[in-house]
Amino acid sequence: MVVDYNDKELTQKYQLMAQTIIPRPIAWVVTKNDGVTNVAPFSYFMGLSSDPATMMVSVGHKSDGTQKDTLKNIRETKKCTICMVDEDMLEKMHFSSKEMPSSKSEADEFDIALEDIVDGFPPMIKGVKSAFFCEFYQEMELKNSKTIPLVVEIKEQYICDEIIVDKENMILDYEPVARVGKSYALLGKKITPPKIS
Ligand SMILES: Cc1cc2nc3c(=O)[nH]c(=O)nc-3n(C[C@H](O)[C@H](O)[C@H](O)COP(=O)(O)O)c2cc1C
Repeated sequence: MVVDYNDKELTQKYQLMAQTIIPRPIAWVVTKNDGVTNVAPFSYFMGLSSDPATMMVSVGHKSDGTQKDTLKNIRETKKCTICMVDEDMLEKMHFSSKEMPSSKSEADEFDIALEDIVDGFPPMIKGVKSAFFCEFYQEMELKNSKTIPLVVEIKEQYICDEIIVDKENMILDYEPVARVGKSYALLGKKITPPKIS
């Protein structure tokens, strides 16, 4: 079967992509604006380059067509903190995707503890094993779309000591939760590649 994307509804295209482009990491994004801390997950998320150290988070729009708070806050403050999601935080992460007015904080609503660890950046979510402290880098334009892929540059990364295997070579043993379709998953078995001569 070959599916013609021209004939498909948006939700069908989402379903197909979300179940085949897998696993997708989840960016649990913390932003701050006017004293309100906003928390929301995004799985159209990926690393782009190590030089510059950049990642992309693709942000759609609210049900009324206005910009999501995460996009608004990054546009205005140029900062975000992107946390990786551990299994024990999965429920809170999922709940934090609820559409809420920008004046309200998902952290308060869902009892998500925060921790300020890097000056000048939004807090990270307390207890996560890794978080990236990022600055806005550039916006990309998807022609005829309201979805905005945002490129952010990593300035600092928090890594919990517990997942560091080799500090000198920056080797980690880490398994954050990923998105697979509408479900979540942990990475399965790792495969060591053969040497290319
Ligand atoms: C696991 C997960 C992944 C999501 N990925 C995206 C995404 O990549 N892009 C997007 O626009 N919304 C995504 N959402 C929905 C947002 O989290 C949701 O719209 C949220 O209300 C946005 O919050 P904000 O307005 O505070 O930014 C995702 C939701 C979940 C649960």
